[in-house]
Amino acid sequence: MTGRVVAPDAAGIRAAVELLRAGSVVAFPTETVYGLGADAFSVKAVAEIYRLKNRPSWNPLIVHVADVAAAGSLVEEWPAAADDLAARFWPGPLTLVFRRAPHLAGVGADNDTIAIRVPAHPVALRLLEACRLPLAAPSANRSESISPTTAEHVVRSLPDVPLVLDGGPSSWGIESTVLDLTTPTPTLLRPGALGLRAIRSVTGAIALPGNGPADGTARPSPGMSRRHYAPRARLILAPEVGETGEETGVLAYEGPEGKNRELLPADPREYAADLYAALHRLDDAGVATILVQEPPDTEDWLAVRDRLTRAAAR
Ligand code: TXA
Ligand code: MG
Repeated sequence: MTGRVVAPDAAGIRAAVELLRAGSVVAFPTETVYGLGADAFSVKAVAEIYRLKNRPSWNPLIVHVADVAAAGSLVEEWPAAADDLAARFWPGPLTLVFRRAPHLAGVGADNDTIAIRVPAHPVALRLLEACRLPLAAPSANRSESISPTTAEHVVRSLPDVPLVLDGGPSSWGIESTVLDLTTPTPTLLRPGALGLRAIRSVTGAIALPGNGPADGTARPSPGMSRRHYAPRARLILAPEVGETGEETGVLAYEGPEGKNRELLPADPREYAADLYAALHRLDDAGVATILVQEPPDTEDWLAVRDRLTRAAAR
């Protein structure tokens, strides 16, 4: 079956709910990137996510819920910091890791924690409310490749997904920030759309991760493997980027725009919003190498630098 892209109107949502309730998968828009959703506590449905994405079984999934009450029902312990963070940032691009409620079996990867977020995209919320299921949803792309920020990116990466709800381009364009609340000090597991300054304004200090161990071994955030988010072309980060060519594309935030030369805004939020789409465009142009002008080494650029570094890892 090839992917069917539909408008997120009443009929589209109904079709999506039917598939989800039958234990199948549906791709849907979120404000960060498109997700590949399935009933979070159906073994069959979750297995289908791992199969379609070719995702390693040790990498657990984020569970998406409609509201704070639904999140509370999935956890063993709801720390005080979660109240403040949820009140301030949900719905939105912040994923919180809790101790998992003991009655819940593993979501894909079997561990005693659970990552949860309430997405802010109106279509995602409409879908969650209509299906009345917590939805496990990783980014809707083949494992290790670039996350999708449009419905078209989804069908190109995952042609076998039965249904894609088309909600237009994702506004943040980069994945949610993942914060572990099971540690005495909240610990950043993945830098993402929501900046650290905003989080600290609510929690006070947060612990930052060190350099993780190699792939496949135990790590605090299993998804943070070294190579990830990669385009087809070889990506090279450099302080100075030179000329483009038939074989060489450039991604910069300064200088002119041109053939095989993508110019992104010099503001980290605006840069992130178009980053994956720009990498998709350069891949489509058929270049073998993408030279990326290294973004500034400041906290505001943390998530962008993280994704570019992983995309460049070989
Ligand atoms: O913005 C997003 O978060 C998107 C949209 C669709 O919501 N989803 C997303 O999911 O990026 P995924 O599967 O591509 O990334 C999930 C990240 C991985 O790094 C994974 O290891 C981590 O969250 N994660 C999930 N469950 C975890 C847990 N129990 N403990 C620690 N990390 C966890
Ligand atoms: Mg992903």
